[in-house]
Amino acid sequence: MTTAILSALVEEQQGLLQLLVNPERVRRGGRSYWRGELQGRNVVLALSRIGKVAAATTATALIEVFGVQRIVFTGVAGGVGAGVQVGDVVVASAFVQHDMDSSPLFPRYQIPQYGRASFDCDPALTALLLEATHEGLTRARGEFHENNLYQNPGVHQGLIASGDRFVSGAAELQVLQNGLLAAGYAPLAVEMEGAAVAQVCFDYGVPFAAVRTISDRADDQAHVDFPTFVKEVASRYALAIVQNLMPML
Ligand code: ADE
Repeated sequence: MTTAILSALVEEQQGLLQLLVNPERVRRGGRSYWRGELQGRNVVLALSRIGKVAAATTATALIEVFGVQRIVFTGVAGGVGAGVQVGDVVVASAFVQHDMDSSPLFPRYQIPQYGRASFDCDPALTALLLEATHEGLTRARGEFHENNLYQNPGVHQGLIASGDRFVSGAAELQVLQNGLLAAGYAPLAVEMEGAAVAQVCFDYGVPFAAVRTISDRADDQAHVDFPTFVKEVASRYALAIVQNLMPML
């Protein structure tokens, strides 16, 4: 059984790469894929790159070329649900594409020819990821300085909305949320890749789970201190979560 660990950002992958046993790098489609073992489990590490097309390409190669049997995604996201704060973590239960609109041919958000707008994550893998997240955050927090801002992160589980747009304005977010809510979708977070990977995994019947650390509130301050946050918080969380997940697989 080989598990793909798909990271959104290079900083998140670095810690995993350092732990990879018997690393072997394979180049495909302008990307690097790293085969090896993490805590005795066969893994392939890859970067999704940014946006839905790039992420779908990486996910497809992971399945078709590397034969992975499940995909776990880690990354950052903008928090949009009530009470979802910067420094919190969201484990996805399902994904929707907030920029999919083939109306009037199909209902807004519906993926043409799928008869659905959202894709569920694998419940069993997601349950393990949730457990690993709780344990991982306890571990990562222990490494923080005692007055670190992110000492008590909340863990949420729910819908995440993906689209090819970095959402960075309160007015823009309001429009996005109103549209989704009118169709019955209330996302906890927004990002740019998860729904694409979920759709590829649906096509191939490959279990998928995803976790996102909240780096911003998708509002007018969404770009502030992004690199620092990724390095200091999100990368540590991702590493600790994956390290806790591995023995569970
Ligand atoms: N990833 C992290 N923050 C995001 C945002 N505000 N919009 C889209 N993707 C993100």
